[in-house]
Amino acid sequence: MSAGFSSFLYLISSVCFILGLKGLSSAATSRSGNLYAIFGMTIAILTTLLSPAVNHYQYILLAIMIGGSIGTLLAKKIEMTALPQLVAAFHSLVGLAAVLVAAAAFYSPQAFGIGAVQHIKTASLFEMSLGVIIGAITFTGSIVAFGKLQGFISGKPLQFAQQHVLNAALGVALIVLMVVFMISQSTFIFWTLIMVALVLGFLLILPIGGADMPVVVSMLNSYSGWAAAGIGFTLNNHVLIIVGALVGASGAILSYIMCKGMNRSIINVILGGFGGDSSANTNSSENHLNDKPIKASSAEDAAYMMQNAQNIIIVPGYGMAVAQAQHALREMADILKKSGARVRYAIHPVAGRMPGHMNVLLAEANVDYDDVLELEEINTDFSSTDVAFVIGANDITNPAAKTDKTSPIYGMPILDVENARTVFFVKRTLASGYAGVDNELFYGDNTMMVLGDAKKVCEDIIKALKESA
Ligand code: TAP
Repeated sequence: MSAGFSSFLYLISSVCFILGLKGLSSAATSRSGNLYAIFGMTIAILTTLLSPAVNHYQYILLAIMIGGSIGTLLAKKIEMTALPQLVAAFHSLVGLAAVLVAAAAFYSPQAFGIGAVQHIKTASLFEMSLGVIIGAITFTGSIVAFGKLQGFISGKPLQFAQQHVLNAALGVALIVLMVVFMISQSTFIFWTLIMVALVLGFLLILPIGGADMPVVVSMLNSYSGWAAAGIGFTLNNHVLIIVGALVGASGAILSYIMCKGMNRSIINVILGGFGGDSSANTNSSENHLNDKPIKASSAEDAAYMMQNAQNIIIVPGYGMAVAQAQHALREMADILKKSGARVRYAIHPVAGRMPGHMNVLLAEANVDYDDVLELEEINTDFSSTDVAFVIGANDITNPAAKTDKTSPIYGMPILDVENARTVFFVKRTLASGYAGVDNELFYGDNTMMVLGDAKKVCEDIIKALKESA
């Protein structure tokens, strides 16, 4: 295949990736977005395979078969709640790939058209070392993120004295090593550069608490994109440059959105928890408000109230995902709609444990996209709503985010469910949520607590609604 034609195909695949990203920005178009991305990736892989430089198909096919089988198996088996750690594990592989490709280019520069051994072009050396540094940081950083999310490493921020001084010193050392490498092209300096970057990756992520880990995963996603783009320059591969930049930019934007939604400083996350807040994710189950009385309610009460309501807003959270209650919830909402109520879903930007967590689950249960509204679209409607049905959600409704300056969630935007005439909280206990903060709403005058598993409660409400129909 001629170089001109493969550039043309790479361009088509890049356009497909852009359309894929565009499609993924909304639940309604996400399926077509995925199809565009799959199509683009297929073109990119086939174009690379058909390039004249490839002459050992048997190894490539073997690698595709092994990697493809592992990937398919994992994707089929993985629980939705464990996706963040799977993504972290995948990012570590992207980082490692960037390091390995750079090493291959360093040892066989002629095969990559970037010069000869000891006579590699300066620009290529710069791109190569940048790709290697970001790739190595991504590799070890993602392994730590995976370990923390999976529980292999403590979720608590692991800090020691002078940690940031050490990180800064390693950062400076990387810059010096990079310059020396570009001048000397020394193999020893090349591997020292990689080693220092690997250590820095560990040190950057260790001090970050488990609560911030999903933001870190998204940030590492961005790093892996930039590493790929750096290697794309070395290989003079346009599709790798474009895709790397797309992943890098979209990961950075997503990290920023998540930081805003969780009231975290993105600078803290990038600099490895510098001044970071370690108070989140204490997962305290003790509730200091426990001695206050709650209004305990039942599925039957909830069914009765909602049957007589005109406006209902459902607020799903992490507990809905744990209970896999989305199908029963949709069935419940359908019955209420049939009886004349207006039922909508309010989605907080960080409800659940990963971006779009609730949207994915509701889409899986075939909830109409038009009924699913973002925080800013629906928050003012709670004051004209009869029932707010909060199912497995906690932090995203907690008024402490507005009133308690000492709270780890202070400043996080919340869904103002307490403005509804009646609020039902469906959860198993009075325990706190992810941030480990008590929620005073459980004791509110207009709050009814329906204690139980989210799916079971929905099924009981459906039963009660059907019986009274
Ligand atoms: P949480 O505040 O974690 O509250 C979830 C509640 O669900 C818990 O209080 C739990 O109470 C209840 N629950 C658990 N299993 C249940 C079940 N089977 N049935 C019924 N209830 C169940 O969740 P949220 O309101 O969705 O807020 C998300 C939190 O995660 C925020 O603090 C956010 O910052 C954080 N976070 C989000 C993300 C993203 S990107 N979404 C990433 C990292 C962290 P019981 O144990 O009493 O049942």
